[in-house]
Amino acid sequence: METSIPHGGKLIDKINFNYNISHLNNEIELDKMALSDLELIANGAYSPLTGFLRKKDYESVLENMRLENGTLWSIPITLPLTEETAEKIQIGDEIKLKYKNECYGVLKLEEIYRPDKMKEANKVFQTTDPNHPGVKKLLERPNLYAAGPIILTKMPSKKTEFLKYYKSPKEVRHEFIKKGWKTVVGFQTRNPVHRAHEYIQKTALEIVDGLFLNPLVGETKSDDVPADIRMQSYEILIKNYYPQNRILLAVFTASMRYAGPKEAIFHALVRKNYGCTHFIVGRDHAGVGGYYGTYDSQKIFDQFSKEDLGITILSFEHSFYCKKCNNMATSKTCPHTKEDHLHLSGTKVREMLRNGVIPPPQFSRPEVVQVLIDGLKNS
Ligand code: ADX
Repeated sequence: METSIPHGGKLIDKINFNYNISHLNNEIELDKMALSDLELIANGAYSPLTGFLRKKDYESVLENMRLENGTLWSIPITLPLTEETAEKIQIGDEIKLKYKNECYGVLKLEEIYRPDKMKEANKVFQTTDPNHPGVKKLLERPNLYAAGPIILTKMPSKKTEFLKYYKSPKEVRHEFIKKGWKTVVGFQTRNPVHRAHEYIQKTALEIVDGLFLNPLVGETKSDDVPADIRMQSYEILIKNYYPQNRILLAVFTASMRYAGPKEAIFHALVRKNYGCTHFIVGRDHAGVGGYYGTYDSQKIFDQFSKEDLGITILSFEHSFYCKKCNNMATSKTCPHTKEDHLHLSGTKVREMLRNGVIPPPQFSRPEVVQVLIDGLKNS
């Protein structure tokens, strides 16, 4: 039994730890984002991608949110390289992909091209403002892109950091089957889980068999809570407040793009590859600052068919704690006024912790707050 069909039809597997790299002389230096992308292409999380995007696919993704063959894809997965590196390598070469002097994979070089980064920024992030963290990152990366299929020859270090929670899409799919879950909702987060997250997750759990809590632990902006502290906060939350047999925790090693709507599509497609049948999109999913409208990340899904997506989106209104209802709620379920509502967000919880204010239990579970206070004190 398959929980859901991978995007593009089959789960990609480009891992070969025995691949001979001893005869290869040329190399490209990866940054953290490219290293995590290499891993996620290879383990099938980015199926149907088999490598870094060629120019035609890249342009098609920017213009139409589709690969050249028509498959829905919203975020360009690219491999930046410098002019200096480009001069040393030839089309057709096999090239070592290195990060901090370790080789993690091989690229069969098919193309080198120069992207129009302003166009990419506009299409992906809907802004060219260099203060947007995704645009900033895009502009900082080298100015050429290398394209071609890859092989992963060594597991990036993240695997050892979060060993217990590192699972490939194939492994996650097996776990879903073992648990007998036919419907599974995926949840993306880059924050500690606060009460609004818990509310929408548990509301979704009322209609599906299992919850796949899949926090992003790759590169994030510096004021986000570090992943190791977040992992401890998820553990304590699950132990105290979730039915153990209805939740699976595993890390998502991608870097955060902060691309709002386009990243919401990407996040959903990736969770489909992990076997999810449903995916939660709440308020300002993958947003940052005031760059996107509160529900833009939900509205973008309207333009795609069920067949295009292959995963059901569960959209949630902005949730809050209502002092009169004495409950978590949304405007769909609560008749009271703004004055009675406590609005929660990861940003607010982070701000309070930074200023030494203890978030109230209506914001965050006390056990979670304690882990965050202890973790941030020592970090
Ligand atoms: S992010 O990866 O989307 O940037 P974040 O941790 O901020 O992560 O949010 C995780 C998920 O919860 C997203 O789908 C987001 O839309 C949703 N969410 C966060 N806060 C709320 C809220 N107060 N009400 C409804 N949904 C929320």
